[in-house]
Amino acid sequence: MTVFTRRNFLKASAAAGLAGIGASTIGRLSGLAAARTDPVVLKTATIEAQLMNGAPTKNVLTYGDAVMPPVIRMRKGEPFAARLVNGIDDPTTIHWHGIRVPNKMDGVPFMIQPYVYQGDHFDYAFTPPDAGTFWYHPHCNTLTQMGHGLTGVIVVENPNDPAFDAEVVINLRDWRLGDDGQFIEQFRPRDAAKGGTYGTLRTANWLDQPQYDAPAGGLVRLRAAITDVTRVYAFRVDGAEAAVIALDGNPVPQRFAPDALQLGPGQRLELAIRMPDDEGAIVSLRDVRGTKPKILATLRSVGKSLKRDVRDLGPLEANPVAEVDLAGAQHIPLALSATAENVPNNGICGSLGYSFWAINKVPWSGDSPDPTAPLAELKLGQSYVVDMENLTPHAHPIHLHGMSFKVLSSSTRPVQPLISDTYLIQANEKVQLGFVADNPGDWLLHCHIIEHQKTGMTSYLRVV
Ligand code: C2O
Ligand code: CU
Repeated sequence: MTVFTRRNFLKASAAAGLAGIGASTIGRLSGLAAARTDPVVLKTATIEAQLMNGAPTKNVLTYGDAVMPPVIRMRKGEPFAARLVNGIDDPTTIHWHGIRVPNKMDGVPFMIQPYVYQGDHFDYAFTPPDAGTFWYHPHCNTLTQMGHGLTGVIVVENPNDPAFDAEVVINLRDWRLGDDGQFIEQFRPRDAAKGGTYGTLRTANWLDQPQYDAPAGGLVRLRAAITDVTRVYAFRVDGAEAAVIALDGNPVPQRFAPDALQLGPGQRLELAIRMPDDEGAIVSLRDVRGTKPKILATLRSVGKSLKRDVRDLGPLEANPVAEVDLAGAQHIPLALSATAENVPNNGICGSLGYSFWAINKVPWSGDSPDPTAPLAELKLGQSYVVDMENLTPHAHPIHLHGMSFKVLSSSTRPVQPLISDTYLIQANEKVQLGFVADNPGDWLLHCHIIEHQKTGMTSYLRVV
């Protein structure tokens, strides 16, 4: 279920039994105390899926019964619970990318929680403090598990959001398939040592260029999550007026047109799109990066024009992210580099067997109960500024678990003070990211090009 109009929304979410929105709305309307709904069951499964023409692809991984991992809907400030049941022959966990969860719920194996073996389960429970678009994925043997399908989108709703006429949720990702439609090797070492190994088949919601109907002249909230393991996108919308309203789960301070806006793996784009008045008119979401631009998905105007105006859309409410105290902040230098050292990897949690990358000259040796020392030990409640420098000739989407940062400045371009969990740092860029260390625990910080993450570009911050 990817298209919701306001009319079919409650019906659809109730029918799909998704996280709480139907049930909790009903609870509120009938004046019941917020009785907790049953946990969402996310059972990993191996399936065959029709991704290309011809033979279905074998060994595709998903959560649940539907072909694609479900869009999980939560509500800001309301408890959420999920039971991960592992139905595949490979240990796994779930990480709730971008959601500021308690450390125990963060899904990093060994450092934080035990592996979940085949037939076992693990219960996650937390209350999302922020509204926006997030996503979920394993944090173990990730190149294979995510590469084969285990990436899903999360929508955290805010009842105070302005009203749209429709919502479209898009999961953007690639697949590495041969001509016979079957998986080929997930990565090539020579590419892992550069920008990463790209997929051979590009999809939106596991489809090639799907089309969704939306009310003519209406306002569509389009949420796209880049859940691919490698690809950086440059977004453009053709055929309609479109404005970026949120990035990485947080409203943007100034709305702007997505004019080749670059976002990397792990990042999320939220657009307000004003559909054309004419029935049948087509709006396209495009990736214009690189030599092979692609139409990712299209929207088709249907019905009589609703004659809405983007300027009527009120602002999205800011998330309750603590304001960094710049005067009192301590600075944490962080240098991303290539490394020549070949540190033997401890082999747990999906080692790729190479170390091409390092953070502050230390290549990560793999998730373990006893990892290398943290990048820094932070005091709970204190403000920090990460001075991050990219000494490599490649872009890296650097993701911090557990806390949101504010983009303060860049050496190469003017930046909006965005609140985010993932920053796409370009070659030779220096950037300052400020945050308050208000979530205790050990928090990973890594490149979200999974080959980079798994070949050294990972570290962690300890907040005590
Ligand atoms: Cu999207 Cu360490 O995660
Ligand atoms: Cu990287």
